[in-house]
Amino acid sequence: MEKDIITLGIESSCDETSAAVVKNGREVLSNVINSQIKIHEKFGGVVPEIASRNHINNISGVVEEALKQADLTYNDIDLIACTYGPGLVGALLVGVSYAKGLSYALNKPLIGTNHIEGHIAANYITHKDLKPPFLCLIISGGHTHLVHIKDYTEFEIIGKTRDDAIGEAFDKVARVIGLGYPGGPKVDKMAKDGEANIELPKTHLDNLDFSFSGIKTAVINLHHKNPDINKSNLCASFEKTVTEILIENTIKAAKQLNIKSIALAGGVSANSYIRQEFINLEKKGYKIYYPESILCTDNAAMIASAGYYRYINGTKSDLTLNAIPNLKIE
Ligand code: KG4
Ligand code: ZN
Repeated sequence: MEKDIITLGIESSCDETSAAVVKNGREVLSNVINSQIKIHEKFGGVVPEIASRNHINNISGVVEEALKQADLTYNDIDLIACTYGPGLVGALLVGVSYAKGLSYALNKPLIGTNHIEGHIAANYITHKDLKPPFLCLIISGGHTHLVHIKDYTEFEIIGKTRDDAIGEAFDKVARVIGLGYPGGPKVDKMAKDGEANIELPKTHLDNLDFSFSGIKTAVINLHHKNPDINKSNLCASFEKTVTEILIENTIKAAKQLNIKSIALAGGVSANSYIRQEFINLEKKGYKIYYPESILCTDNAAMIASAGYYRYINGTKSDLTLNAIPNLKIE
C-alpha cells in the first residue's frame, strides 16, 4: 500500500482564518475555521485592514488547533498548501507568509493554491466518487464562473460574470432591504416565507457569461420606490430569477460540452433554493453535486484538497511565493 499523504491547508483570503489537515486529498481529519463575521458585521462588509490584523492574531492558534484535532504533530505533515489568490492582498499575505515560514522550518514542500480551485475541490471531499471531467458552477462572494473541469488541475472557464458576482448581488440586496451582512444566508431564510410573485429583469447575453447588476439595481429601485414592499416576496423573487439565470447558462454549457455531471461550488451554493432547483435537474438526467454546507464557504480543507492534487501533479512552490490578489484559474 502506498503511504498516506497528509496535507496541512491554510486559508486566509478574506475574513476566515482556517487551517485543516486532510489525508490523501479527500479525507478531512480536521478543519478549523475562525470566522471574523461578527467583527465585520458592524461595518456592513469586510474591512481589509481589520481582516489582516485578525488573521495575524489567529493564524498560529488555528494551525495548532487543526493539528491537535487531527491528533498529529508538525512532523506528520507531508506538504503545506496555502491560498495565494485571489483575495485581499493583506489577508492573503498572512497565510502565505505563515506557510512559507512553516515550510522552511519543517523542510516540507509548499504548494501555493488557487482559492477558486479550492472551492471546486470541496466537492471531492463530499463526493468520494467524483472525478473529472465535469462542469462546475462556482458561485461565491467574489466569483461567478462556469468552468469545464477537464482534469484535477486542468480548467477552462466557459462563462463568467461581466459585472457583479452573484454573492455580491445577494449581499447588496440584503443590505438595501435592511437584513445586514452577510446577506446571502439572510435572503435565503427570508425567501422561505415569501412568494416569487414580483417580476424582475433577466439579462441575456449571447454567450455563457452572466450579468447580475441589472437585477440588483431593479431590486434596489423597487425597494426605494416602495419601502413597505413585502421583503419575503422580494427575496423569493430575487432568488427565483437569479436561479433561472444560473440554470439556463449551466444547461446550455452542459449541452455544448455533452456533460451530464454538474457540481456547484462556493458560498452561494449553500443557498437552499438554488440547491433544490439544481437537484430537480436530476429528473432530466443530470447528476448534481454540491459540497456539504461547511465546505461551501471559505475553509482550509478545500485548499488542502486542491493543493494535494497540484502536488501529485508535480507542482511545487518555493519561498518566492507571493500573494496574487487577482489570480485566475486558467
Ligand atoms: O465562497 P465564499 O465564502 O467567499 C468567497 O470566496 O467569495 O462566499 C461568500 C458569499 C457571500 O456573498 C455570502 O452572502 C454568500 O456566499 N452566501 C450565501 C449563502 N451562504 C453564503 N448566498 C446565498 N444563500 C446562502 N445560504
Ligand atoms: Zn471563497
